[in-house]
Amino acid sequence: MKLNRILAHFLLTVMAISLPFGGVRSDEPKNHDFDVVRTEDAVPPYQLPPLLVTVEGHPVRTPQEWVQQRRPQLLSLFANLIYGVVPEPEIPVRTTFEVIRTDPAYMDGTAVRKDVRIRFENSKGSAELQILVFTPKGTTNPVPAFLLHSFGGTRDDGHDASPDKKGFTRNGLPLGEFFSRGFGFVVVPQSELVKHNEVEFLKGVHPLFYRTGQSFPKANEWGVIATVSWSASRALDYLETDRDVDARRVVAIGHSKMGKAALWTAAQDERFAMAILAQSGCGGAALWKRNFGENLEKMVTRFPYWLCRNAAKFVRNEEDLPVDQHMLIACVAPRPVYVASGSEDLWADPRGEYLSAFHASPVYRLLGRRGLDSEASPAVDRVVGDDSVGYHNRAGGHSVEMFDWLRFLEFAGKHLQKP
Ligand code: GCU
Repeated sequence: MKLNRILAHFLLTVMAISLPFGGVRSDEPKNHDFDVVRTEDAVPPYQLPPLLVTVEGHPVRTPQEWVQQRRPQLLSLFANLIYGVVPEPEIPVRTTFEVIRTDPAYMDGTAVRKDVRIRFENSKGSAELQILVFTPKGTTNPVPAFLLHSFGGTRDDGHDASPDKKGFTRNGLPLGEFFSRGFGFVVVPQSELVKHNEVEFLKGVHPLFYRTGQSFPKANEWGVIATVSWSASRALDYLETDRDVDARRVVAIGHSKMGKAALWTAAQDERFAMAILAQSGCGGAALWKRNFGENLEKMVTRFPYWLCRNAAKFVRNEEDLPVDQHMLIACVAPRPVYVASGSEDLWADPRGEYLSAFHASPVYRLLGRRGLDSEASPAVDRVVGDDSVGYHNRAGGHSVEMFDWLRFLEFAGKHLQKP
């Protein structure tokens, strides 16, 4: 019996990691996107805005000055210029949670699966977000969990509501590895409150927040990524009520566009214990000012509303941006952050992703943690960072592979599992 279970578990795990998602495995941009910087010698000279100097020009020397002055300034700049602020609703939004289904014997009895409906409502409309919460069987205490910003849906409507049927990460998910290490797993779909390439913002959650007469977000108001991040914070609100999960040990994780969202989520919402950014690239961990691979112009023309409209003002003008993405990673400090690249994923700028983590490190040190010490990127497949900032550049392209999952689990295990 035990052997059968182990075998079933193994097969499910292998199935989950071996199925490609819609064949999207390469980072190669579409034909029209080859007009971007793809070699180091073509990176323009640039200067990063100073991390530890306030807008008023004062040096930031103490943890208090960082926490009370600089970090709030940076978050406000990122909100108003890059991702968009979530406006105060004119009429309060009522939020309700409902566990609509429980499967106590998920994946051959190794886990419990809960389908949870989160509903938002006021007199301007309503919207619903359906999340999945998996917790390993046989644990008595609340477990730490990964909260995945997911490309795939979570509804049983013939799509991919079951992680062992792939879809959540583009190439499957070794869920058994999470359960056997005592981690829960939460799936938050990206496109229920806002569509992937939203252009109208008349459906989903935005109308609940419009002022009278408003029908489109203002230039500094939330775009698609900010809305995805907001969903994750609302999912965490639910987790705070779920006794199977320890809401103080939840990792925000995402790949690619979802990695961009995971960074914005964890930077703002300090309840998240950790961030894992897999190939988050442009608008994620990569530095704007390097202009390497996908750049601001590509992003705002191909996906006009992923960011807020103010961001477009800096196209070909990145030197005027008062922020760069290392500052957003620094806003996660002192909580642990792990950045992962792919050596062939040039569209996401592996070098820029590393440099962001490296240049965020002074804030980790200011807050009493260790960061990355070397400006040089590590060799392919080598893991660096023995404390709160971790990094690897896996051989290969744009996907999350078993190599990545295991490194993420090791990093999270080190920081979040109680001895
Ligand atoms: C496109 C986009 C990237 C994004 C990626 C993805 O390639 O340009 O910014 O990360 O899609 O989400 O897979």
